[in-house]
Amino acid sequence: MSSDLITMDDLTNDEILELLEQASSLLPVARGESYLPLLQGKVLGNMFFEPSTRTRMSFETAMKRLGGGVVNLGALASSSVAKGETLYDTMRMVDGYCDVAALRHPRQGAAQYAADACEIPILNAGDGAGQHPTQTLLDLFTIMQAHGRFDLNVVMVGDLRYGRTVHSLSHALARFGATLTFVAPPALGMPGDIVKHLKADGADVSESEDLFGNLAAADVIYMTRIQKERFPDEDEYRKVAGIYKLSRADLNDAKESMIIMHPLPRVDEINPDVDGTPHAHYFEQAFNGVVTRMALLCRVLGVEVKT
Ligand code: CP
Repeated sequence: MSSDLITMDDLTNDEILELLEQASSLLPVARGESYLPLLQGKVLGNMFFEPSTRTRMSFETAMKRLGGGVVNLGALASSSVAKGETLYDTMRMVDGYCDVAALRHPRQGAAQYAADACEIPILNAGDGAGQHPTQTLLDLFTIMQAHGRFDLNVVMVGDLRYGRTVHSLSHALARFGATLTFVAPPALGMPGDIVKHLKADGADVSESEDLFGNLAAADVIYMTRIQKERFPDEDEYRKVAGIYKLSRADLNDAKESMIIMHPLPRVDEINPDVDGTPHAHYFEQAFNGVVTRMALLCRVLGVEVKT
């Protein structure tokens, strides 16, 4: 792989499978059952220009569980971004302070821009409505844990237009032979260029507005939040807010093995009464961000994973 991770195109299928295997071997370290200081002396720059709980904290946990250090950009209001410092200048500083950086930014393309400006590996932690490849690694890990394979019926639901997690995940799953159903209202459908690209690569893709009609055949239901912050007009958001909601009572016809995933945070897409069902995998999914990011950090820093 390239030392940057900007999109899933930066990883071959074999590299993805190897990362997932290494991540699996790191589970005891992620749980704190053993300590493995593979990244002692290395420093991660956590550069979050947009809010984050899971991605930022799991990167930090991954680094610390492996003995490394972390410096955070912190609140934008208390950084020199508030004085008007450009992304380019900010990243040039981080290039000198850190060995690797995770970057989240509201502008699509910002991660590639930063990678072009820096010598250190840049890991795209979400660029606007673009891509979120490190989320895809933990999503793939979660699916592999539950099903042991990827050639499954995967139904992606909600805001597929602005949801960067589904942009990256659909691409990766198609490469591994999954059948994809995109469930969204017309205003929030998967961008046409992504659908075209997936179909041109031979992926089995269909589009629908009906969540419940697609439940019984699903192996994975991947719910997403409507990304209020990306709507240019709040009235447009209100028209689609709350459009898809899953409750325990909706799951009666689901396959026993069907798993429900969500990159989180959720708003009202999944009723808390689903949390206690065996279908709910979203909290485990969030935990899996630690092991997959551990494996990724080792790889881009050239450290062999030996457990
Ligand atoms: N899944 C995800 O990206 O969550 P955060 O926005 O909390 O990082």
